[in-house]
Amino acid sequence: MTHPVIVVENLGKKYLIRHEQQKNYTTLRDTLTQGVQSLWNRKRVKQQPSKEEFWPLKDLSFEIKQGECVGIIGRNGAGKSTLLKILSRITEPTTGRIRIKGRVASLLEVGTGFHPELTGRENIYLNGAILGMTKVEIKRKFDEIVAFAEVEKFLDTPVKHYSSGMYVRLAFAVAAHLEPEILIVDEVLAVGDAQFQRKCLGKMESVGKEGRTVLFVSHQMSAVESLCNRAILLQSGQLYLDSGPQAVIQSYLESSHIIAHQVPLKKRTDRQGNNKVKFSSFRILDENGVEVTALQSGKDYCFEVGYKNILDNILNNITLSIDFHDERNTRVMMLKNKFTNDLFHLTPGDGHFYCKIKDLPLANGTYRIALFLSIGDNEILDYIEDAVSIDVDGGDFFGTGSPGLPSHCKILVRAEWSKASSSLSTVNY
Ligand SMILES: Nc1ncnc2c1ncn2[C@@H]1O[C@H](COP(=O)(O)OP(=O)(O)OP(=O)(O)O)[C@@H](O)[C@H]1O
Ligand SMILES: [Mg+2]
Repeated sequence: MTHPVIVVENLGKKYLIRHEQQKNYTTLRDTLTQGVQSLWNRKRVKQQPSKEEFWPLKDLSFEIKQGECVGIIGRNGAGKSTLLKILSRITEPTTGRIRIKGRVASLLEVGTGFHPELTGRENIYLNGAILGMTKVEIKRKFDEIVAFAEVEKFLDTPVKHYSSGMYVRLAFAVAAHLEPEILIVDEVLAVGDAQFQRKCLGKMESVGKEGRTVLFVSHQMSAVESLCNRAILLQSGQLYLDSGPQAVIQSYLESSHIIAHQVPLKKRTDRQGNNKVKFSSFRILDENGVEVTALQSGKDYCFEVGYKNILDNILNNITLSIDFHDERNTRVMMLKNKFTNDLFHLTPGDGHFYCKIKDLPLANGTYRIALFLSIGDNEILDYIEDAVSIDVDGGDFFGTGSPGLPSHCKILVRAEWSKASSSLSTVNY
């Protein structure tokens, strides 16, 4: 029996959230009390911001053995990154404790682990030293790291001048190559292009095969399924399920489905962004303008997205994205107004966006829709990962009655087929 290399016991993390008190929520009693207080103590007139306790992790216990590759999954805000930060000793737990045996290298959000003023080369040495490696050991790995990260040209540039892609490539290369006994990776697949993502997955797989321990947070279920031999599902900071990846992914997808259906969009709390503008509703209309709940391949639809802008000013350069994910949480279709330069400006108050499509190219199945709203590419206003879930059921995309092969491929494309009988013949277009 291998011994556990990570032991987590009754772990809890508390944050204090400050709320600035808002005038419109002040009761008459509050006003009177404050008035009286102000007579006695002038300092008290200034409203104190209230503080609320918030526990992103609660009473979490589990053990991880050497050589296990564990996927940690859960909805936005479930506490995954908080857990990884505690395991990487970037933040302290409030309750409980962790025990870790071995050198940990972690790749968390951009910004941790690297010193912005130091060059790529210096950061590689710094990180190696933090991991307890000698200069000779780091030197031995140096070329491999630089080649993996593809940053040769910028090795002597301070990393603060790197693009986010370069930064993450180098950070991942350092974390994965400096022979840590435990590798902790948070959502690296969200950044970087598809080729780099494949490279990272391949590297993590080989790290796992070398008998080292890997902890990996991802929203990409296919990656968790192919890479991990165990998965942990966190829900509101608590351990919901700890089992084989397939069972845990199944449970996660089922629970998201229920939430997406039961709680109206405007009341959802599993959202990100600054929420100056919030999604308030989502409907799908067929070609006659009638609301539908299930779709058919090959038909025309209009997606209606309601919003509320709580600001008093007009916002320009608004990007909206409606993303469709299949049962494995792979994004298979993306409707984004930016692709066609149809950027919006928003006046204060409520309104609706409309997105019309022809010939729905999705095969039968259940899809989760993520809604994303931002100003340009920078300021995220609202993002709901599992906003709604829809079924595509039936339809006749090809006009032949064939549904395609939904279990193998979700995207439908009409193709023209022809054949030339001799290798010398050329195809006529
Ligand atoms: N420094 C902080 N102060 C207050 N609240 C925080 C802080 N850091 C995180 N939180 C909150 O703790 C909760 C858990 O956050 P965490 O980043 O761990 O979630 P996550 O599971 O990684 O989510 P995601 O999938 O979106 O990355 C969230 O509600 C978040 O807003
Ligand atoms: Mg996170």
